[in-house]
Amino acid sequence: MNHRANIAVMISGRGSNLAALIKACAAPDYPAIIVKVISDRRDALGLDKARSAGISAIALERRDFATKTDHETAILNELEQVKPDLICLAGYMRVLSAEFISHYPGKILNIHPSLLPKYPGLNTHQRALDAGDKIHGCSVHIVEEALDAGPVNAQWVVDIDPDDNEKSLGDKVLNIEHGLYVDAVRKVLAGG
Ligand code: GAR
Repeated sequence: MNHRANIAVMISGRGSNLAALIKACAAPDYPAIIVKVISDRRDALGLDKARSAGISAIALERRDFATKTDHETAILNELEQVKPDLICLAGYMRVLSAEFISHYPGKILNIHPSLLPKYPGLNTHQRALDAGDKIHGCSVHIVEEALDAGPVNAQWVVDIDPDDNEKSLGDKVLNIEHGLYVDAVRKVLAGG
């Protein structure tokens, strides 16, 4: 019997990358299943996407905990129950501490809407436009402590057209994020 890896997905919002991973995991030959979704926001639309797919999904809001450490400990406790082989950040908009990351070294992936190391952080599409860049894209990387930092596993490039604006460029990038993340997870699980 083939072993399928257990993935936990962490989100903060819409969950379109989560939806892409859910769809991929529905195929019996995809090397993973999603065992838990954790959001730091109760109103994250991705929670409904997970629950509709029959996946256990929980919200742990930062404001319900006194400290960042308490919040992360609660998340770690949830993760410990499912023992994930891989944790996928899919629009999770908090920086994880070194202590958190040390529990899953090399096993936390993030997708980010820029060609890292360019434009970590927010407003990546507008920043690429403002800089007059001709290309933009998205990256999947292993998570290290700094914001949107760590070894890059996969990138995909889109052209910036002269008539692109923040919305059109953002749509273009989001469209390729989904396939990139699904492929990057497959590659990482294959040891690549
Ligand atoms: C995606 O564009 C993802 O790359 C980005 O948040 C969006 C989440 O969309 N992540 C970051 O900016 C991480 N620094 P989604 O909830 O529809 O997947």
